[in-house]
Amino acid sequence: MLLVTTIDDVRSALDAARAEGKRVGFVPTMGYLHAGHRSLMDAAVAANDVTMVSIFVNPLQFAPDEDLESYPRDLDRDSELCAAAGVDLIFAPDVAEMYPEPMWTNVHVSTVSEPLEGRFRPSHFDGVSTVVTKLFAIAGACRAYFGEKDWQQLAIVRRMVSDLSLPVEVVGCPTIREDDGLARSSRNVYLTETERGEAAALNQALRQGIEAIEAGERDPAAVEAIITAHIDASTSGEIDYVGVVDAASLIRPDQLAGDIRLLVAVKFGRARLIDNMGVRAD
Ligand code: PAJ
Repeated sequence: MLLVTTIDDVRSALDAARAEGKRVGFVPTMGYLHAGHRSLMDAAVAANDVTMVSIFVNPLQFAPDEDLESYPRDLDRDSELCAAAGVDLIFAPDVAEMYPEPMWTNVHVSTVSEPLEGRFRPSHFDGVSTVVTKLFAIAGACRAYFGEKDWQQLAIVRRMVSDLSLPVEVVGCPTIREDDGLARSSRNVYLTETERGEAAALNQALRQGIEAIEAGERDPAAVEAIITAHIDASTSGEIDYVGVVDAASLIRPDQLAGDIRLLVAVKFGRARLIDNMGVRAD
């Protein structure tokens, strides 16, 4: 496995691979890798000849009051995990390599980025879209793997790739969870023991919402009320949002139909947890 830190080195490695007819898989991450990231790597390694993982804590997607400085980092452990997964190349640039000058360019995907996370973290998705565009430009033609854990991010990246005709095939991968249903996240380390005990309620609440839809409920507000009630009753967390929306556009319909996504964000003391699940309403 090769660890490179410059854009030029990534380009020459992946251009050489493609020149030999090899297919490139790409897993963008911010590091501190866990089983969720590992599942993306496994999918990439299985379907491609060469797999690259990028590890870059992207300052553009953190608001000034967020955890950019304290975001957990451990490149040595991450490298071991990548090697064990059969990854061929790690791209771990520093901030100066990615942003040698102040960015005058910003990629904004409208509509799908605006509700839910977009309302609570107003500049976040522009930071994500901009860095992902840049990473795609560096990687070149590839298949890129994203987790459903960050459903809105995945929906934004899909739309951006389609709108801009980027030479990337986006592959969405299922959310990896702890035994009690808590979605794996690098930020779960911020939970206290009590909060960790309560955190499984997010997934339980989403399941209750899905059961209601499966039982015939078609009013998104009614499903949101069920989810909200369960989280309020079983956690000390403060709900940022509960949304029951169209899975691709994230627009909330009057009546649920087709592919539906249920999404929640809850603030605990230091941790802010997000989770989502999908269901078809026919
Ligand atoms: P990060 O939070 O490190 O996540 C990297 C990828 O791992 C994302 O596609 C995310 O959805 C996926 N992932 C995280 N937890 C997961 C889980 N429990 N199950 C399945 N997949 C999971 O998302 C980012 O980084 C950044 O915004 C990035 C796209 C790299 C741009 O900076």
